[in-house]
Amino acid sequence: MLIEIPQILSQDEVATVRSVVAAADVVDGKVTAGELAAQAKYNLQLPEGSAAARQAGDIILSALGRNPLFNSAALPYRVLPPLFNRYDVGMKFDAHVDGAVRAVPGPGIRMRADLSSTLFLTPPEEYDGGELVIEDSFGTHEVKLPAGHMVLYPASSLHRVNAITRGSRWASFFWTQSMIKDDGLRGLLYDLDRAIIEVRQSLNGDTHGTLSLTGVYHNLLRREAEL
Ligand code: NI
Repeated sequence: MLIEIPQILSQDEVATVRSVVAAADVVDGKVTAGELAAQAKYNLQLPEGSAAARQAGDIILSALGRNPLFNSAALPYRVLPPLFNRYDVGMKFDAHVDGAVRAVPGPGIRMRADLSSTLFLTPPEEYDGGELVIEDSFGTHEVKLPAGHMVLYPASSLHRVNAITRGSRWASFFWTQSMIKDDGLRGLLYDLDRAIIEVRQSLNGDTHGTLSLTGVYHNLLRREAEL
């Protein structure tokens, strides 16, 4: 399931994050790619764990924490600290699948990457090319979103970033380990959650039926969640 989440960041937060990342030193993006992905990757990145990446990443992590759509769709258990990349003219990332397991900052901790996220930081009118192209069972999707908007997609999907032909594109990207490993089950829980919210809104509150459905949602999550 591929989900666009609008306005993860406010325009003020986008401006703050952009000024922090634009002032920082960048390195070759191959440093955080596995051996295969490194051969496909041509971009620049903020060094992992740098002061700028931590400062800008914390703004994004707090925004994610208060975003109901992200929490409903991802059912996050762990979110890796956000990374930041820049694609200048000619830069691209050819088709690849993200690595399944990633090291978490700190001694010897690893996490499973269930979901990939790209949070766009540059308005689309400032650059040409640079679409994130994601393949899933429903076909190929080209994603290019306003600054502050994000796309969430299974880390298992084949994806690429088209070459930039004008301007420069900043984005944040990060991985989430979900409490629900299975994409299909996570998608059903998301649909159930959204449907309950819709019914509650149309009824202007709860009925015995909506309370029972809410119970079903939580009890399914209780049965299946891995913590
Ligand atoms: Ni990737």
